Amino acid sequence: MAGRLRLGLIFGGRSVEHEVSVVSAEHVIAAADKERFLVVPIGVAKSGAWLSPAETRAQLAEPAPPYGKRLVSPSPQAERGPGGEVGRADLGSAVDALAGLDVVFPLIHGTHGEDGTLQGLLEIAGLPYVGCGVAASALGMDKALMKALFRAQGLPVAEHVVLRAPDDEAGVLVAAREAERRLGYPVFVKPANGGSSIGISKATSREELAAGIALAARHDRKIVIEKGIAGREVECAVLGNADAEASPVGEVRYRREFYDYEAKYLDPATEVIVPADLPDDVVERAQALALRAFHAIDGAGMSRVDFFLCPDGSLVIDEINTIPGFTPASMFPRLWQAKGVRYSELITRLVDLALARYKERPVA
Ligand SMILES: Nc1ncnc2c1ncn2[C@@H]1O[C@H](COP(=O)(O)OP(=O)(O)OP(=O)(O)O)[C@@H](O)[C@H]1O
Ligand SMILES: [Mg+2]
Repeated sequence: MAGRLRLGLIFGGRSVEHEVSVVSAEHVIAAADKERFLVVPIGVAKSGAWLSPAETRAQLAEPAPPYGKRLVSPSPQAERGPGGEVGRADLGSAVDALAGLDVVFPLIHGTHGEDGTLQGLLEIAGLPYVGCGVAASALGMDKALMKALFRAQGLPVAEHVVLRAPDDEAGVLVAAREAERRLGYPVFVKPANGGSSIGISKATSREELAAGIALAARHDRKIVIEKGIAGREVECAVLGNADAEASPVGEVRYRREFYDYEAKYLDPATEVIVPADLPDDVVERAQALALRAFHAIDGAGMSRVDFFLCPDGSLVIDEINTIPGFTPASMFPRLWQAKGVRYSELITRLVDLALARYKERPVA
């Protein structure tokens, strides 16, 4: 077994998707090719603290909560303290954890995992890593920047406005009136840097819009308000670097008002359909748009691109996710499975893509 690559698997993290990440990590540890990789799990607690090897093992050994509760943080607000403060990691333990690794798989969703900050640390450490680089990750995370970039490249996005979180009630009302004038109803209000639909709401009146702005302002200082789009929600996965390929297209169906936190993690009626029942031309257009979106952010390794399919057959890009859910039941692995790429092979492909990209970096 000599000569195996030491593959650091960083998981958990401060985001509300902490539990999803832990489950993904357990599967990656079990499925990674043991002849090629020695997986070194590195847990990050909800506080943001990087765990020691012993603490990481303890985190992985925790008994699984009952099904259905498993993928959910006890409170969607868990990543912030009672005063709204954010975690501070001891960087010494992060540096210790990275020592001796050959390559890293960052498998933390959202804050400090998917937003370019962890990628920045790995760049500084000089380590190859799976997935998008610093700028691509940051662009994929920030819904305002993402939309501006997509629009500049001629990619279809919902009409929207971006605003600073207002300081007081009067400011909320001014913002609501202005958004109403420009977009009408219904609209969706989102914190620019969010995840798992936390802080997102739908508004069909000025009262709801004002409440939505106040809610989003609790999560971010930047808010995006978008025209509501009535359509099916379809998703396409991208795998590769410069020569990336698009997967078959899947669909999520839910019975709630929109694909909110409840629908994503709690409602058993939510379905992930792979492949989606769609005309060939829709699939081809979704694949082409997914690749354009991926290259627009200068993506690497993997991403999942989510769309609205409107009744007239047009597609609107909702967002790109640079660290998509990675349990075997998640959309990204299922879309590749549908194309014949098994879960363990997907891990190998991603690591090889990380190594290939690292080799291409300028050395000057
Ligand atoms: N403009 C829109 N029109 C209709 N529905 C929308 C719109 N924007 C968001 N939604 C609904 O809200 C859900 C969540 O929105 P979005 O995908 O932008 O954020 P998110 O899922 O929290 O982000 P992330 O995927 O990064 O975790 C969508 O899946 C969709 O159901
Ligand atoms: Mg989404």
